[in-house]
Amino acid sequence: MTKQQRTIRRAQLQLCQHTTSSRAALAAEVHFSVVNEPRSVSSRAGLAIVALAVAMTGLTGCERVAPPKPLEQLTTQERAGHNAFITNCSQCHNDRKTGALHGPSLLGVYKKPYLPSGAPANDDRIANVIQHGRGMMPALGNQVAPDDITDILAYLKTL
Ligand code: HEC
Repeated sequence: MTKQQRTIRRAQLQLCQHTTSSRAALAAEVHFSVVNEPRSVSSRAGLAIVALAVAMTGLTGCERVAPPKPLEQLTTQERAGHNAFITNCSQCHNDRKTGALHGPSLLGVYKKPYLPSGAPANDDRIANVIQHGRGMMPALGNQVAPDDITDILAYLKTL
């Protein structure tokens, strides 16, 4: 993949987190601003990439990811992670269905390359978000033990 293809793919994956109607609105808005506003060449190019990604997402649709592993098939560690998730995360995050609560749904979080913020979806990053918080998400490092974080990451991988 070229750098530009990667940028488009990343924009597409982020767009897949929007609903179809808000994607359409975003496409119209991006198109409008590309056409109407005087901008620097680089920001025009950036917007053009987003517009292209919106168009391609519209054409190809968003990839369907595999459904979560059924609860009754979880390993001991994954089950411990599920319990810790219910205690520490479920009031703000859906896990087995889409739709934001206080924070974004974590359904399929490891099946996409990027988190909603655009950071890579990997153990280091997610453990860091749990320990130190991010934006409106509080730091939970004092509340969730390191072993529980490891279990939660194992559970998130089943989603
Ligand atoms: C009090 C509500 C709250 C709790 C509890 C909470 N979160 Fe969050 N979380 C949020 C909010 C709000 C965001 C969006 C933060 C932002 O990007 O500004 C978020 C974002 C995230 C993200 C995405 C970060 C990114 O880079 O896009 C992950 C992953 C996450 N939370 C995991 C967890 C896990 C795992 C737990 C439990 C250990 C948890 N959260 C507990 C509110 C919460």
